Amino acid sequence: MSGKDFWSLRPIERLGIPSLNVSDGPTGLRSTNSDPATVFPVGVALAATWNPGLAHRMGEAIAREAIAYNVDVLLAPTINIQRTPLGGRNFESYSEDPFLAGEIATLFVQGVQSQGVGTSLKHFAANNQEHDRMTGSSNMGERVLREMYLSAFEATIRRASPWSVMSAYNRINGTYASENQFLLEQVLRKEWDYDGVVVSDWGATKSTIGSVNAGLDLEMPGPGRFYAESLKMAVASGEVSPAKIDEHVERILKLIERVGLLDGNPKRQRAAVNTAEHQTVARQVATEAIVLLKNENNALPIGTGNRIAVIGGAAHRPTIQGGGSSQVSPYRIISPLEALRKAWPDREVLYAQGVDHEVRAPVIDYRLLRDENGEEGLTARYYDNQSLDGDPVYTERDWRLLKLGFGKVGPLQGSTAFAVEWSGTLIPESTGAHEFMLSHSSPEADLTIDGVTLIGGEMPIEREKLFMFLTLNARSAGCHMVAGQSYALRMRYRQPADTDFPGFNLLKLSLRTPPPSVQDAIELASTSDVAIVFAAPGTTAETEGEDRKDMSLSKDQVELIESISARCRKTIVVLNSGSPVEMPWADHVDAIVQMWLPGQEGGYAIADILSGKVSPSGKLPVTFPRIYRDTPSFLHYPGGRQVDYGEGLFVGYRYFDKMEIEPLFPFGHGLTYTRFEIRDVSIPAKAALGDTVRLSLNVSNTGMRAGQDTVQVYIEDRATRETRPLRQLKSFEKIFLEAGESTSLSLDLGASAFTHYDIDEGKWLATPGSYLIHVGFSSVDLRQTIEINLYAD
Ligand code: BGC
Repeated sequence: MSGKDFWSLRPIERLGIPSLNVSDGPTGLRSTNSDPATVFPVGVALAATWNPGLAHRMGEAIAREAIAYNVDVLLAPTINIQRTPLGGRNFESYSEDPFLAGEIATLFVQGVQSQGVGTSLKHFAANNQEHDRMTGSSNMGERVLREMYLSAFEATIRRASPWSVMSAYNRINGTYASENQFLLEQVLRKEWDYDGVVVSDWGATKSTIGSVNAGLDLEMPGPGRFYAESLKMAVASGEVSPAKIDEHVERILKLIERVGLLDGNPKRQRAAVNTAEHQTVARQVATEAIVLLKNENNALPIGTGNRIAVIGGAAHRPTIQGGGSSQVSPYRIISPLEALRKAWPDREVLYAQGVDHEVRAPVIDYRLLRDENGEEGLTARYYDNQSLDGDPVYTERDWRLLKLGFGKVGPLQGSTAFAVEWSGTLIPESTGAHEFMLSHSSPEADLTIDGVTLIGGEMPIEREKLFMFLTLNARSAGCHMVAGQSYALRMRYRQPADTDFPGFNLLKLSLRTPPPSVQDAIELASTSDVAIVFAAPGTTAETEGEDRKDMSLSKDQVELIESISARCRKTIVVLNSGSPVEMPWADHVDAIVQMWLPGQEGGYAIADILSGKVSPSGKLPVTFPRIYRDTPSFLHYPGGRQVDYGEGLFVGYRYFDKMEIEPLFPFGHGLTYTRFEIRDVSIPAKAALGDTVRLSLNVSNTGMRAGQDTVQVYIEDRATRETRPLRQLKSFEKIFLEAGESTSLSLDLGASAFTHYDIDEGKWLATPGSYLIHVGFSSVDLRQTIEINLYAD
């Protein structure tokens, strides 16, 4: 009932039960050895496609990569509701709306599990901020909990039966999720009839008896702290019954059986990593996720202008994913700049960085490095001892200098002493002060430049910080460097054997380069036909372990956008972020495009949209507020250890609608390059409570080109006297239509589309009376409204 190490369960050889392996996650398979896998767009981007079928395909692809890395259960998807725009893990989560989150999650889980790989639906529950994430209590009434924070879990569990669920770090109304009888026993097991494994988030188990009796099956990571000796003692003393242990063990065995381990793991032949097909899926998700927020004077797609200025560090070094446990080692990174140059081979596509947009020093750009054979990256040598004695046991070219778990010597994690040395040449692109930062989980690591030790010496290990994914043992040092010169770089990592704590190894080498010239960028933009400005919070800004401090882009970037829009004929801003940013410049630019954190193929995706090869079809899965102060949880966040969810049911658009606050861009919004219309909406005038009713309508593409749009159905409950949101999303469908084409759609609204959770009755109920059905292309762009009356049978 507890792990063997960080990523696997204990085998029981005497019974022929093999070890089961798990790994993250939501944006692709994270190899526990930091080996590469396809980096897909992050969760919020997947949700922005509003295309559950695509979520299925992404799930299948990630599962095949999991199989290739011998991973049986994928620790994904993350479906927590985006409650505050500052949430550090918003990028990983799907939406502010439980219905959309549930639809995407259901198909993602089905996709993964169709390949024989399990999923772990996380984090159960109400894990909506990183601030105080290990101890904070998410406090709210039962109706809010059920309707806003549990319903995406409920929908996914009922329809897709994920083989495991991960209990969250936080408390809910004072009780830790991993020992929460109400959540695990009452709701999950009894009401939802869940038969899978409940695994604790890494380090989220807080007790022995309380957790076992509440329903936590598995403590991770191993070796167990609460589910080891103390569990044996609790059984011996009678505080935990053997029958209870049997229940947990049976579920774990069932999981081992479900993933095929007892049948010799037949799924192995499906293994595949970074195939052309997986790249295509990653690209399609990234493309369909891109949201065209604003497009005036037909600024997009970019027409005939010859000289195109591409501005902003994110064009050349994009943020392809967020930070923390979901981080995948990429096979390749297609930058927007590179992809735009490929898309427009006959045009002048010129680049200027403009400003340094990074909050912290970013991971060193491998394009500045050469290994011992002159190729991009460094030469890595692995030794089976700490003193780098003898011949290396493994040598490779390595360019991914952010590692979440590695060590190619003996058992991957823990018990073996090993060391790695990376060496090669650094050739700076600019002259000036270069600031290096080395972060690592081992007690010893060093960095030398041209034989001089810049960073070195021993450090104590900060184990507790392991789960925060921040800068562990981070040390910085700078030196002056000259553009184009070669500097010998060597970095070493030494890990002693640690049998008490077979933790996992983390390492990151970051480099902040000298500031670029703003003037050059402005000059370039003002002498070009169009300026495409890539703006971003930065590669370290959105991460597990900490929330964002605010919703703004750096002052420098805001000023750069303002200066360029004042001088350039046409300014297009592309946002490379996982969450909304404030856009005080929104009225001054011609077009705004949200490209999210788009995964390794994101460059191709944005080039397809900007060049007009594909009509944009992404829709916002979260409201983009004008300013942070306008957001629903503004008065109730971060809340210290006690986080009162004072906005109640009014999360996201439910708040903006009710308060009549106009957001910058509403939930569900996203423009296309063509035009869609909705006609002939019909529904029966009456239906019995509990019936499924069919909504029919026609959609036409009345524009000049093919494209996709998403028909969205919001229900306004006028019958219930309880407090309730004005309108709630209850159905949607994405459709593709050629120019001039029409189609008819039928959307079924099941009983649950009309219910609210009734505290007194202790169940979901619908009130007899009138409901308005609004059909449109966003939560505020409602084209048709029709009424239905529900009567009690
Ligand atoms: C995260 C989980 C993740 C686990 C294992 C935790 O810190 O919260 O989402 O699955 O680590 O990496």
